[in-house]
Amino acid sequence: MADPAPPFGFHRDALGRACLGGAPLSELLAASGLETPAYVYDLDAIQDATSRLVSALGPGNLVAYAVKANSAGSVVRAVAEAGAGADLVSGGELQVALACGITPERIVMSGVAKSDAELDRAISLGLCAIQVESVEELPRVSARAAALGAVGRVSLRINPGVEIDSHAHIATGHDEAKFGILEQDLPAALEILRREASLSLVGVSTHVGSMLREPEPYLESARVVCQVALHCRASGHPLEFVDFGGGFGIDYGGEPADAPEVFARAALGLLAEWGLADLRLVVEPGRALVGPYGVLLTRAIQTKRSGGRHTLMIDAGMNDLIRPALYAAKHRVEPCDALPGALPFRVVGPVCESSDDFGEHPLGDAPSGLFVVRDAGAYGFTMASEYNGRALPGEISVRAGRVVKAAPSPGVAAWVTRRLEA
Ligand code: LLP
Repeated sequence: MADPAPPFGFHRDALGRACLGGAPLSELLAASGLETPAYVYDLDAIQDATSRLVSALGPGNLVAYAVKANSAGSVVRAVAEAGAGADLVSGGELQVALACGITPERIVMSGVAKSDAELDRAISLGLCAIQVESVEELPRVSARAAALGAVGRVSLRINPGVEIDSHAHIATGHDEAKFGILEQDLPAALEILRREASLSLVGVSTHVGSMLREPEPYLESARVVCQVALHCRASGHPLEFVDFGGGFGIDYGGEPADAPEVFARAALGLLAEWGLADLRLVVEPGRALVGPYGVLLTRAIQTKRSGGRHTLMIDAGMNDLIRPALYAAKHRVEPCDALPGALPFRVVGPVCESSDDFGEHPLGDAPSGLFVVRDAGAYGFTMASEYNGRALPGEISVRAGRVVKAAPSPGVAAWVTRRLEA
């Protein structure tokens, strides 16, 4: 996906300084008063990316932002203002989405193991749908709904049995995955739906996995959804929507990916082809709306030269950004106030794990000062931990080149207190 033109997203100014949303990152950090490591988000770019997808999908359809990608209040408010709803997977995410102004009828709740309390909340609020991921979940939802004197609005999340070319940890649509209902189990699901008066089948959904670079695998799973939707209709269920899931990829500096709008247009075309254009189309993007528009700022701690290798130790570790350690993901690491140099340095964090390694980057002779880890707006802070007694990172939100919110790290003292309480 091509980055939108500056001032949106990451770019370098005429002096070669790394900027986000039109302002140098070093200045934004100073203005925030925060220490590194800290995430910085460009709310204008996030809102613009969301608006573009909302327009491509057209009125009546729903962009359900996958809150798990970035649940910062300022970010969720920005996507909500741009017209998105939410896809979420826990009661905590539900609370954030509601507090950020997303109304229940624009929220879908996924997850393979929703707790009774989460189901009760989802049912009483009347969410757009509880996305049911197993046949066994249906009687659970039905019993909770009956106890509340309500009807549970459910969608069947289908596991389409589609393999995608992605890291094994982020592929969900193959038939051994824990996610979704296999087509072979559909008759059993429909039988339960036929007899349970406390359930209303309102949708059919899927999510095949993450980091799709072009629409074809998305469409392959969407075709399965269309087929199931036709079958459900023929069985007398007046469906309201189909949900083709998220998974739109971004360019981490290696291979490009099609823009979310390309997926949206292809999805709309497919619905028309299948005679299902009267249904509401839901998509669930996370990464593509936030990933390119956030960075992680970090400082050099020291260098090390040993065995012919040059290593740079930074103050951000795998506890702040786990993607390289968990998925062998590549995030560009660059100096903030100088252009990348020629000499390659291996960049590592302070955590006592060999996988706390951000890979090799051209950083020049004597790297020092402030560095930027790029494309870290998605699955960055939301996957952060306090491993090794490290504090969670801070978060800075930027609009029109100015800091509009600076959430400091809770600090090591908070970690110490919690440990001593346990
Ligand atoms: N819908 C459902 C049901 C999902 O499980 C996910 C992501 C999404 C939507 C959003 O997918 P996206 O558009 O962001 O690809 N932590 C991994 C990604 C895990 C994705 C989990 N599910 C990473 O950092 O690459």
